[in-house]
Amino acid sequence: MHRILILDYGSQFTQLIARRVRELGVYCEILPANAAIEEIRKVSPRALILSGGPHSVFDAGSPQSDKQILDLGVPVLGICYGMQWLGQAMNGKVSPAKTREYGFTQIKVSAATSKLFAGMAKNLRTWMSHGDEVDVVPVGFVETARSESGSLAAMENVTRKIFAVQFHPEVTHTEQGLELFRNFLAIAECKSDWNLGNFAKEKAAEIAALVGPKDHAICALSGGVDSTVAATLVERAIPGRLECLYIESGLQREGEGDSVMESFKGSGLRVRRIDARAEFLNNLRGVSDPEKKRKIIGKTFIDVFQRESKGVEWMVQGTLYPDVIESMPPPGRGGFSATIKSHHNVGGLPADMKLKLIEPLRELFKDEVRKLGRELQVDENILKRHPFPGPGLAVRCLGEITEERLVVLRAADKIYIDEIKKAGLYDEIWQAGAILLPIATVGVMGDGRTYESPIALRAVTSSDGMTADWYRFPHDVLAKISNRIVNEVRGVNRVAYDISTKPPATIEWE
Ligand code: XMP
Repeated sequence: MHRILILDYGSQFTQLIARRVRELGVYCEILPANAAIEEIRKVSPRALILSGGPHSVFDAGSPQSDKQILDLGVPVLGICYGMQWLGQAMNGKVSPAKTREYGFTQIKVSAATSKLFAGMAKNLRTWMSHGDEVDVVPVGFVETARSESGSLAAMENVTRKIFAVQFHPEVTHTEQGLELFRNFLAIAECKSDWNLGNFAKEKAAEIAALVGPKDHAICALSGGVDSTVAATLVERAIPGRLECLYIESGLQREGEGDSVMESFKGSGLRVRRIDARAEFLNNLRGVSDPEKKRKIIGKTFIDVFQRESKGVEWMVQGTLYPDVIESMPPPGRGGFSATIKSHHNVGGLPADMKLKLIEPLRELFKDEVRKLGRELQVDENILKRHPFPGPGLAVRCLGEITEERLVVLRAADKIYIDEIKKAGLYDEIWQAGAILLPIATVGVMGDGRTYESPIALRAVTSSDGMTADWYRFPHDVLAKISNRIVNEVRGVNRVAYDISTKPPATIEWE
């Protein structure tokens, strides 16, 4: 099997690069930027990709790779920081940029024959985020693209097969980014032989070996894609030795418990329903801080599991790559990235946890999980459901969580989702949800003044949850939703629509 090796300089997008390469059917691994050359040789990569990163090459302690990676004789692609590192390591000139480029940037490809840009448009909309730039290309390199503000956007040394781009081809905001990776893999003469069918078989065998012939496992099902696919895979690995729990936290959507239990009938999974609503609300009383909420919810889930899982050794979680990346610098991967949010799946586990973890989807992105679910014949309705965060409505009920406020939020959310479905837009949207704001605004109803809460609506398109754009609703649909919420939900007198992209915002408000 051909492998690509990514050297991680701490970019939020390193895993996305891996995801794109895998999407093209090539297996790939990630090592920290400063991995020893022997370790890199052991992987026998067909090619190297150097990720971006939040540092400047001028910072003391900025991540550095062993320059011998340039003598391995395999093609190299440097992205953003990776390009600047190449510029510096190969004796070009790197300087702080005159204008910092952030966000959408138009570039013009100048090289007619560059194999990296083969078959691509000459003018491309790209996504950039950098403060330094390569001013003078190293000896042996030629410039292949420039941005509209005049900065060098790409360079290459054809003889040594070293390429570099200042933009991020891995994010979907960049036009034809996947094409660029396809070209790079062709330059490296990689075979496309990695797929999710093989992944499922290998993972099931790995889990069976890990759990052993006698142990039992437990899995909390949310009714969403991740936990269902994770449970299905584990059930396949250790048939009859997995019990699933559906824990009602009171933070789910309107009517969710019944519909989730219904959807598991006939799935082959053994599911037990547990009512822990009072416990969650109690533990959350008086807490407004988002990180504290997440930690409390994570801990309460774990407490319930531990109580309900006597005689069980393993716990299955549907943790995905984005949860892992955004919660902590990946262990052993250099730790160059910043913590954004503690996702409860990975951030809130107590040190004394008795259950051992199985996280079969830890290396996968959401759309890969959906594909894997199809391989495992999981119900299409579950696979098509919008993602819903583990902490549930708690991260959409800004401020303190009370049953009264949750009632308001659930009612608004139900109208929102129902109207999206009625308009036939559900499958076009990656994720949608209502958010209850912790402020009051003035309105007028009949002849009277109202002073009530606003509801914010969020709907995004995305392919992996790592980046997202706000969904362009037809105005009449928004009008209907707003009308119904203000008229039907007591305590709400205003509706706002969130038009922020991720980055710089996130999908959830907390
Ligand atoms: P953000 O808000 O970080 O969300 O842009 C990205 C995706 O992750 C979901 N999300 C979570 N999922 N536990 C989860 O299982 C969490 O704590 C959590 N927080 C956010 C979010 O709904 C979106 O799909």
